[in-house]
Amino acid sequence: MSLTDVTAAPAVTTGPRAHVVGPVDEVPPGEGRAFVAGDTQVAVFRLRDGSLHATQAACPHAGGPLADGQTDVNVLVCPLHLYAYRWSDGSSTSGETPIRTYPVRERDGYLVVEV
Ligand code: FES
Repeated sequence: MSLTDVTAAPAVTTGPRAHVVGPVDEVPPGEGRAFVAGDTQVAVFRLRDGSLHATQAACPHAGGPLADGQTDVNVLVCPLHLYAYRWSDGSSTSGETPIRTYPVRERDGYLVVEV
């Protein structure tokens, strides 16, 4: 994001934990991207159905980059060892340590993540 983009980002008035992390167009449909929300590294995903999801950036298993994972409407699959995590609550489909999920929404073309 350029300095121009930062100054164009909307003011967030929903609380101190909400952070504008970047333009929604920075995340192509069906993919994820890593961002920093405050001092928290997050991964934000835009699914092909248009829904947005945000998780912790690093996989709890061995630190895999979750933003590079494969997705469908139900789960995120870590690119390193293919553990799958549910969007609904971050739980692992195989009983592994769950991932944290965060509220995310679009506001005026920007992604807002609450951490
Ligand atoms: S690091 Fe994600 S499944 Fe191993």
